[in-house]
Amino acid sequence: MKARSVDFAKLWEYSVGFYGVWLVHLGRQTGLFETLASSPMSITELVSVTKTYPSAVQAWCSAAIAYGLIIEKKGKVYLKPGMRAMLLDKKNPNYLGGQFSYLALRSLEYSAFEGLFRYGKTHEMSSNINAIEQATDWDHYAFIARVRRDRKLDQLLSRGCRLLDVGCGTGSLLVKMHDVYKKSSFVGIDPSGKAVARARSIAKNKSIKIIKQAGESMTFENEFDIVYLGESLYAARDKQRVISNCLRALKNGGTIAIVEGLLPESNLRTDDDRLIMGMELDFALQGYRFMTKKQVAKLLEKFSRVRFEDLGGSVYLVTGTRNSFLPY
Ligand SMILES: C[S@@+](CC[C@H](N)C(=O)[O-])C[C@H]1O[C@@H](n2cnc3c(N)ncnc32)[C@H](O)[C@@H]1O
Repeated sequence: MKARSVDFAKLWEYSVGFYGVWLVHLGRQTGLFETLASSPMSITELVSVTKTYPSAVQAWCSAAIAYGLIIEKKGKVYLKPGMRAMLLDKKNPNYLGGQFSYLALRSLEYSAFEGLFRYGKTHEMSSNINAIEQATDWDHYAFIARVRRDRKLDQLLSRGCRLLDVGCGTGSLLVKMHDVYKKSSFVGIDPSGKAVARARSIAKNKSIKIIKQAGESMTFENEFDIVYLGESLYAARDKQRVISNCLRALKNGGTIAIVEGLLPESNLRTDDDRLIMGMELDFALQGYRFMTKKQVAKLLEKFSRVRFEDLGGSVYLVTGTRNSFLPY
């Protein structure tokens, strides 16, 4: 038989990957992975514990075995070693599960592409809060792990300081930070009514205040030690104004921390590059674009000690300090 080309193999892999995304998402959403992580069991037992439908679970198990996610031995199925950390453990640095659920949940809205390609009609992501939460858990834990390694920030937060989260979404970073740094107080702002309602419900009875507001309208002055923007700057219509408002909101010497997926400048060769370029299509549907490092550096011109740290998967932590001598 004639050997197939490298491009053929690549295309074939992409189509196989589509089902991989759904297999992982369904295994997470239905609790099949969680159940199999606790002990090996027969498919009948799995159906009974997860209260699912036999023929669906049978089909899922056959596919999950074929995809190497679970293993079958002596009539029992179990989660392949190492998969628990990657699929279920949100705090694990190798956690990927949320990415799969994000992709599957986002794809539910892709019929809207018809409107984008035909009429240029965009479709806001904030309607899909569940997808956002799945995607950003990884960012949050990567940010918290990084803060804990930073002596200055860790000490500030441990002693008790004030942190502002601009575009806080459902407030889940604030709750995670509050759990680690009990003496600090937190403020989150977001223009989405849906996100704010969810954030207020999870922040109840904690020193976390949630305000319905866009970054462009903030009027805080010399109030915060840390201003955090997690995958929200890309969404702001007037980014420079948001950053100027963040600068003014910070105390002298305060830190801005931006976690954002950033576009590669050139050489689109790695899987990370391919992933973010693919997601750029998803962003186009929402009427947004990812930024480049250069664009972010320009926005942060008035900050000193600006640093870019690669957190992995094209996600960067960009930090800068408010320099007391610069006017905002
Ligand atoms: C991808 S979500 C990230 C949410 C949150 N930071 C997290 O890490 O889970 C982007 C958020 O930015 C918010 N957003 C959009 N435009 C904004 C603006 N102009 N100012 C502040 N937040 C904005 C959206 O409402 C949405 O909640």
